[in-house]
Amino acid sequence: MERKQLQALFDEMTLEEKVGQTMQLTGNFFDQSDSAITGPMEELNVSREDLSRIGSILGGTGAADIRRIQTEYLKKNRLGIPLLFMADVIHGYRTIYPIPLGLASSWNPALVEQTAEVAAKESAAAGVHVTFSPMVDLVRDARWGRVMETTGEDPYLNEELARALVRGYQGTDLQMDDTRLAACVKHFAGYGAPNAGLDYNTVDLSEQVLREQYLSGYQAAIDEGAKMVMASFNTIKGIPATGNKWLLKEVLRKEMKFDGVLISDWAAINELIAHGLASNQKEAAIQALQAGVDIDMMSGAYLHYLEEIVEEDESMRKLLDEAVWRILQLKNDLGLFENPFRGADEEREQAELFSPQNRDIARKAVEESIVLLKNNQVLPLEENQKVVLIGSKKNSRDLLGSWSLNGQEAETQLLAEALQAELAPGQLKIVEEKTVFNGLYSYQAADLYQADVIVAALGEESFMSGEAASKSQITLPADQLLLLQELKKLGKPLVAVLFNGRPLDLSDVSLLADGIVEAWFPGTEGAQVVAQVLTGRVNPSGKLSMSFPRHVGQVPIYYNHHSTGRPFTRDKQDEKYLSRYLDVDNSPLYPFGFGLSYSSFSYSQPTVNQSTFTKEDEVVVRVAVTNTSERKGTEVVQLYVHDKIAQVVRPIKELKRFARITLEPNEVQEVTFRLQEDDFTYLHPDGTWSSDAGEFEIMVGSNSEETESVTIQLTNSN
Ligand code: NOJ
Repeated sequence: MERKQLQALFDEMTLEEKVGQTMQLTGNFFDQSDSAITGPMEELNVSREDLSRIGSILGGTGAADIRRIQTEYLKKNRLGIPLLFMADVIHGYRTIYPIPLGLASSWNPALVEQTAEVAAKESAAAGVHVTFSPMVDLVRDARWGRVMETTGEDPYLNEELARALVRGYQGTDLQMDDTRLAACVKHFAGYGAPNAGLDYNTVDLSEQVLREQYLSGYQAAIDEGAKMVMASFNTIKGIPATGNKWLLKEVLRKEMKFDGVLISDWAAINELIAHGLASNQKEAAIQALQAGVDIDMMSGAYLHYLEEIVEEDESMRKLLDEAVWRILQLKNDLGLFENPFRGADEEREQAELFSPQNRDIARKAVEESIVLLKNNQVLPLEENQKVVLIGSKKNSRDLLGSWSLNGQEAETQLLAEALQAELAPGQLKIVEEKTVFNGLYSYQAADLYQADVIVAALGEESFMSGEAASKSQITLPADQLLLLQELKKLGKPLVAVLFNGRPLDLSDVSLLADGIVEAWFPGTEGAQVVAQVLTGRVNPSGKLSMSFPRHVGQVPIYYNHHSTGRPFTRDKQDEKYLSRYLDVDNSPLYPFGFGLSYSSFSYSQPTVNQSTFTKEDEVVVRVAVTNTSERKGTEVVQLYVHDKIAQVVRPIKELKRFARITLEPNEVQEVTFRLQEDDFTYLHPDGTWSSDAGEFEIMVGSNSEETESVTIQLTNSN
């Protein structure tokens, strides 16, 4: 629709109709019978007339359902303004990919983009218009269950993956391409930093840290064209984001130049009351509208009070108009006025969902997301070895992870079956855990005694991570640790394969197991690829996007922490008054960027094209990486920068570039990285982003702890 037509439509809208557009309800509101007002309608005090005016729906999926709801709705909506359908398509719709924290371990934006494209194809055919993804909240605390939905602890990796996800969902022309979705980046802002890792808890970030570390992921998604932003539940500078004018107007709209639709999180407008900032729904609605929230997800505050608010205070009309205009524009950008059903098509849905092509991409994503954490010459399994598979995840279909929207457990492979298929007949024995607990001396334990290697498939259940799934203990469940301890007594090589949604404290596991495979929640196609990693058909290449602590007491733990006045270094083991723990090493068990391969790689000393640079110069860093093994393998080469003297305390290192390279046996490849002034800037006390003249250390290596470095000098003059 031309802008002029859209304007004409807008001009025809009554106040009531405008208010309706700002309300988002779940699809089940439309399942109520015509006679009674019960259930959700009663709870939210929504009338049948309201239902003919609301603007959008969340969670309704399936082409047939969505077509039905849209058809019925359009019969009743006076101006024929179609509904928008939104859903949480987070790591796949029907074909489920590894959880985002796993996908991020691929360090492969192109692949991540492909997964989003496929998720879009499937869900667009099922009638979805907008996905509540990407979630780009920076995270540092593994107690928070929602780390599974993020891409980890690093701003730069976050930015790269945020852009990839937006590109994958939205494509280049949303109006023409009905296989794509509009992306809603969330949760703005700082939702990933709740105190003590407790979901929905207070966030207290300095403005310096908020701006330097936390905002860049959202900015990247916005720059890539994300159509929507979701405000977060948490406080920023003491005010919940949903009612925070400074955050949403000054920062998001003005500074970050976001001009799309801003939606609240679920019932978050009402929660301004529980936060103690509004005494009733009406005040909450005023605060949210003044802050610039366009859509009220499931609180009812806008629906019930905006008319009254606008009638009492004329200045609020403009805010409502702006919100409604943005919502109509989004509907127009999606081509809904021309085709209110957009991609919703049962035939297409049938062909698209869980198609062989989509599953191929899922398998590729699992291949690159698995992280080999430890390998004491136990993996890959050898052809003639007798293998025992044990552990609660060996025949569990709970491999999809939280937010696996329409994923079907019935379609999810089992590890036991997958491994059986990969190994020679008779090579694999499946042993029940109770055999171990019933006493290792029972006759059922014979398979264990005869094994050459034992693989224990362990981990969390999917409800243990995700929303409202914070934990104070992040070890494996106690019975699983006990199992490992008992197995260890057999003196056999022992491999732990882990399915989980957060960095775990694996200190005990790392002492007991000779090999550790971090498989995350790998999705529908996961088991087969995990089996192939075990047999060596797939050579692992994933690298952690979040540090694994030695103990929960270390969290929040992250590689890019600030320098302290009393740093603890290896040569100061005997000194007391340093920034150190008495009972645990400062370092993580497995650092950011870490991941092993069946190949081995060596790095040359990095070199630079010159040693002194002006701010206009490009810094060209080169490093030679050698595959020192007889196996083809993939390495993620990482470049970090440290500003040695600055006006504000700097992180000890910051990721600035990375490259995934695949090397044939004994092949050497030179990797070139180019850095610009931007890579050396930071937020100065006067509020400007600039770089300082002086020394910078450039570190290159295979993870954030094992690097080789070169120092360069940045000068002010030419
Ligand atoms: C609450 C979650 O915080 C958000 O991420 C999600 O998109 C909405 N619920 C809708 O399901």
